[in-house]
Amino acid sequence: MQYFIGIDLGTSAVKLLLVDGTGKICSTVSRDYPLMFPHPGWSEQNPEDWWTAVQDGLKELTAGIDVNDVAGIGCGGQMHGLVILDENDNVIRPAILWNDGRTYKEVEYLNGVIGKQKLSALTANIAFAGFTAPKLLWVQKNEPENFKRIAKIMLPKDFINYKLTGVHACDYSDASGMLLLDVEHKCWSKEMLEICGVSESQMPKLFESYEVIGNVTADIGLPKTAKVVGGAGDNAAAAVGTGTVGDGACNISLGTSGTVFISSEKFGVDSTNGLHAFAHADGRFHLMGCMLSAASCNKWLCDEILKTKDYPAEQKDITADKLGANRVYFLPYLMGERSPINDTNARATFLGMTMDSTRSDMVQAVLEGVAFAIRDSFEVAKSLGIQIERSKVCGGGAKSPLWRKIFANVLNLPLDIPQTEEGPGYGGAMLAMVGCGLFDSVKSCADALVTVRETVQPDPEIAARYEKRYQYFRQIYPTLKGLFAQLQEQ
Ligand code: XUL
Repeated sequence: MQYFIGIDLGTSAVKLLLVDGTGKICSTVSRDYPLMFPHPGWSEQNPEDWWTAVQDGLKELTAGIDVNDVAGIGCGGQMHGLVILDENDNVIRPAILWNDGRTYKEVEYLNGVIGKQKLSALTANIAFAGFTAPKLLWVQKNEPENFKRIAKIMLPKDFINYKLTGVHACDYSDASGMLLLDVEHKCWSKEMLEICGVSESQMPKLFESYEVIGNVTADIGLPKTAKVVGGAGDNAAAAVGTGTVGDGACNISLGTSGTVFISSEKFGVDSTNGLHAFAHADGRFHLMGCMLSAASCNKWLCDEILKTKDYPAEQKDITADKLGANRVYFLPYLMGERSPINDTNARATFLGMTMDSTRSDMVQAVLEGVAFAIRDSFEVAKSLGIQIERSKVCGGGAKSPLWRKIFANVLNLPLDIPQTEEGPGYGGAMLAMVGCGLFDSVKSCADALVTVRETVQPDPEIAARYEKRYQYFRQIYPTLKGLFAQLQEQ
């Protein structure tokens, strides 16, 4: 029996999946690592912590099998994080993550001085604070000594692939989020590298997500015959894992971040640049909206404020008659927001409480606020003429039946729940299967392995109530936008 390992390098933990040649998940292992917020709005992790967690997890994952049967490894990882190594391969500073908002000045410079039109022509995207290019500019300006030492620039999952194989590689889907890739032509943009003061020799070699970048060379108990594929950004990997490939398929991922992922056969740019235009892990393209705090809003409310780990208990009083009838609203901008408002100053807020508002109204408001904010990205897609008839949904947040129902009704869409909810990890293993020749394309692998377990249908009455609430919700941010900017100055 051949085995494939899928690695989901997330923000709160790494999840490892052992999958056999028929696509069956044989075991899963998870390892947490610290997430640091050294200043308000900053977000960092230590790349060596990721590697320690991966090595440790791999031991447990493969404990019951003959490791010589491990044929391939594929990694889906948190996107955009800046990892920099010196000439001796030492990590220079902690990774600056996808939800870090420190680069607002660099974003202003890129979008304002270089200009959105030029950025979009070069990379198919404009600058957002979480993207990698503005982080390079930030390091250049604020940590010039560190900047001078940079020998290799890479993304989080590429650090793991580098440790595994010694090959400095990146795949097109993840590279798209650096704002350094010419997405349409799938090569580094020389002009963007120049704008950021870096050279192509510091950049990884580019691969398709399902291409083999090398064999395992690290001494970690895996056979040297095991192949490592390029892997993908976690959203593209999740899309593969949920079968979101081909034209017009949609996946919603409810992890720490919340994303709407629309796959496409052809390259296309959102003329408003509200949605990201990136390469997909199946060799094609996609559009994506990303909110920075999704399942993390509920985690924050439960862990930090309500001091409980029993999330289902907090949701049990929220019955169907309450859906679309809540008078409390929540704006989910705990880390500022990316899509579609691109505002690092935006903050979370509750609105509309009265003396009779309850604890469960607040919990409900948080679940609804995240769904409304995802709908904002759907509205952008709609305005571009994209018709979405149904969507897959995956990620930790999608485990809540209540939250799934809220999403189906706020979006007024049927939501398909795949048999396997381990989006990015399963997608990573599928990419490894393609790389090892079990399937001739990502599409044929998805057709063979991904099945839908259940579909959540919207209820016309609840959807109509939510439609009204959404029209109120969408007025909250524009009303507070100016104040958010002032609060930042205090
Ligand atoms: C996507 C994004 C997030 C991270 C989360 O653009 O920033 O979804 O990839 O890991």
